[in-house]
Amino acid sequence: MTQPKTWSDRFETALHPAIARFNASIGFDIALIEYDIQGSMAHAQMLGQTGIISAADVQTLQQGLGQVLEEYQAGQFTPGIDAEDVHFAVERRLTEIVGDVGKKLHTARSRNDQVGTDIRLYLRAQIQTVRAQLRQFQTVLVNHAEAHVETLIPGYTHLQRAQPLSLAHHLMAYAQMAERDWQRLGEIYNRTNVSPLGAGALAGTTFPIDRQFTAQELGFGGIYANSLDAVSDRDFAIEFLCAASLIMVHLSRLSEELILWGSKEFSFIRLKDNCSTGSSIMPQKKNPDIPELVRGKTGRVFGHLQALLTLMKGLPLAYNKDLQEDKEAIFDGVQTVQACLEAMTILLGEGLEFQTDRLNSAVDEDFSNATDVADYLAAKGVPFREAYNLVGKVVKTSLAAGKLLKDLTLEEWQAIHPKFETDIYAAIAPRQVVAARNSAGGTGFEQVRAAIAALKQQMENAS
Ligand code: ARG
Repeated sequence: MTQPKTWSDRFETALHPAIARFNASIGFDIALIEYDIQGSMAHAQMLGQTGIISAADVQTLQQGLGQVLEEYQAGQFTPGIDAEDVHFAVERRLTEIVGDVGKKLHTARSRNDQVGTDIRLYLRAQIQTVRAQLRQFQTVLVNHAEAHVETLIPGYTHLQRAQPLSLAHHLMAYAQMAERDWQRLGEIYNRTNVSPLGAGALAGTTFPIDRQFTAQELGFGGIYANSLDAVSDRDFAIEFLCAASLIMVHLSRLSEELILWGSKEFSFIRLKDNCSTGSSIMPQKKNPDIPELVRGKTGRVFGHLQALLTLMKGLPLAYNKDLQEDKEAIFDGVQTVQACLEAMTILLGEGLEFQTDRLNSAVDEDFSNATDVADYLAAKGVPFREAYNLVGKVVKTSLAAGKLLKDLTLEEWQAIHPKFETDIYAAIAPRQVVAARNSAGGTGFEQVRAAIAALKQQMENAS
């Protein structure tokens, strides 16, 4: 059976079947069909407005396009490899439905500006979904934070106990990262939301088209100023994958902490059955597969970013078929980041419990109040560096004696420095140590409460 020819009569034969498969994008760009039809509807309407085709033709085209979409949604239209891509598939089906008028749709347009339009319409919708998901993720974090302002947690640097923190402060750090992600995507939305439609193959068109009309019809914020740039720019997709990579970095860091916190060694959280998995051989095990998968999926989003950067770097202007490779990277990047945000929001919202008693007692077991001893002396006039060295010695002798700072007697304190008085005990109690860090953006309870209120306000103002 010979394949139908896609191209003009310049071509004598159809593509070799294996080459047709290699060349086709229909297997994945069918995901754009809704946007392809939306773009074609606007284009048809513009062709009518400008008198390039008749009003009757516009109506026929729009009805036909509507039917193609319905057929697709009903599962009755499933184009195969011979259609090559979604753009040809829709146009061919349209022409089957409405007859020769269907052949007028591609007047003053190229698949190059068409595919650019489709991918922008798709991505801008996905960006809004990701932004809404970020808001939900933040809300879950903020809710936990509100409940745990006064729950303490050891704070770490170099994964060594450093200074105790409010658990809320720790969680709010992630809410702030998500806030930047949300804002960043807002900026990227604006640069994605620009219409390339009407740029034609590369040079514009001889027809008296109205690019502002289609841009407005499709809700774009403006039009590309240069037709070559319009058809060959994928900066917006790279920016999106960069923002998606950063979201994944944030989710992956949180995942790593949740995995640690759920271990016997930390025991800061308990995973609930609805979000943990078992082992096929060790019946006692409860595994944190969800955060592990999120951490693991991070790499593929970075990979898509790298793939697109590499795809673009040597491309001469304007369109090259290489650009067909943008889609799978974008689609998988979108799906991965959306799936991970959903899973992490569920995990945090309903899949774990903070072990409050354990968290509050954990901060009692170490020397993470040592800085506060130095601060105590510094506040009484001892130069900080001198106080720091003194406290180093105290930690050393206490460790040797198997004691914590709170176990030292007043005599022992005063032997170290005469400025120590009984208020040293209150000053180094973990709760006080946290409360006292009341500098802007610090972990002091007052600061944390204010930070929660401020972010909530910010989220409300810009939703
Ligand atoms: N399937 C193509 C793509 O995804 C559509 C544009 C084809 N343009 C062309 N000049 N061959 O990029």
